Amino acid sequence: MARMWSKLIAVLVGIVAGLWWWQDFDEGVIRGKRVLVTGASTGIGEQLAYHYARMGASVMVTARRTQRLQEVVTKCRELGRPDAIFGYVTGDMSNMSFTKELINESIQRMGGLDYLLLNHILSQDLHFWSGDVDDMAYLDKVFEVNFKAYVHLASHALPELEKSNGHVVVLSSFAGKSAPPFSVPYASTKFALGGFFSGLRQELRMKDSSVSITTCTIGFIATDNAVASFARIRNGAPLQRIMGSAATPSDTALDIIRGAAYRQREVYTPFLQIYTTSFMNNLFPSLIDYIMRCIYSD
Ligand SMILES: NC(=O)c1ccc[n+]([C@@H]2O[C@H](COP(=O)([O-])OP(=O)(O)OC[C@H]3O[C@@H](n4cnc5c(N)ncnc54)[C@H](OP(=O)(O)O)[C@@H]3O)[C@@H](O)[C@H]2O)c1
Repeated sequence: MARMWSKLIAVLVGIVAGLWWWQDFDEGVIRGKRVLVTGASTGIGEQLAYHYARMGASVMVTARRTQRLQEVVTKCRELGRPDAIFGYVTGDMSNMSFTKELINESIQRMGGLDYLLLNHILSQDLHFWSGDVDDMAYLDKVFEVNFKAYVHLASHALPELEKSNGHVVVLSSFAGKSAPPFSVPYASTKFALGGFFSGLRQELRMKDSSVSITTCTIGFIATDNAVASFARIRNGAPLQRIMGSAATPSDTALDIIRGAAYRQREVYTPFLQIYTTSFMNNLFPSLIDYIMRCIYSD
């Protein structure tokens, strides 16, 4: 019982600290920073680019669709400082040699790198895992794009981030703490990211590195792709109701930028919902599993 109370007090302290931290952010700390955002043609990545630009950073963006990236860069220029650098590199994250080219080109164009935001994901086709040939092919592809590319990008960027006392920011999900139904491969990549970047963080500390790693545990966010994916789930009416009141990509991007600037180990966003659910998941995992099954069914 005493253990339970101490955990509840820890949650309350965390919530109060989180609210204090949320209000106290000085956006001036971003001015002049050099930022690379992956998966920035839409969704949270696009909003990250706009907020960083507005706060005075130089920003490079990447994804596969050139025209969308050009539009994002144009808007960054409108929002940003005249002397900031904005650019894009088009490429596919299933190609590991692209990850090295992207890091090199970003460093060369911005004159260095302070923030690496690992955000892109392969679009999801939510369905029961059947283990057929298509599922196996998708599993390979999703691990290349959602996991291996993150590892390659961070590894290529680390020498430059060491020079700038920089930041690696990994966009994960509550699905990386408690896997929901219908997205087994996606959730697996998020669990894998948690393992890799927790271990890497430990090794960096052992080497007295000043590079921080912030892992973001994100809940339902109303990005166009997420809303479209969930709309396709068979019998997914309750889930669609949740998406109707989900947090915006813009607010989510702001939470991530704050957490990364403060070198937080983890960001939970939306904070109250996801911090509390993660805590409850540690205490009562079967209850959270049950709630998730209800959300994903009629
Ligand atoms: N939205 C949510 O509810 C939610 C919940 C939890 C966690 N998250 C996490 O937040 C992050 C962003 O989510 P989001 O909903 O904003 O994603 P999104 O809107 O689906 O955007 C995905 C981005 O990745 C790019 N991309 C897709 N495949 C690619 C490939 N093979 N190579 C290079 N780029 C590729 C897409 O651009 P192109 O198509 O132009 O390549 C797009 O810019 C993800 O890490 C996700 O796991 C989101």
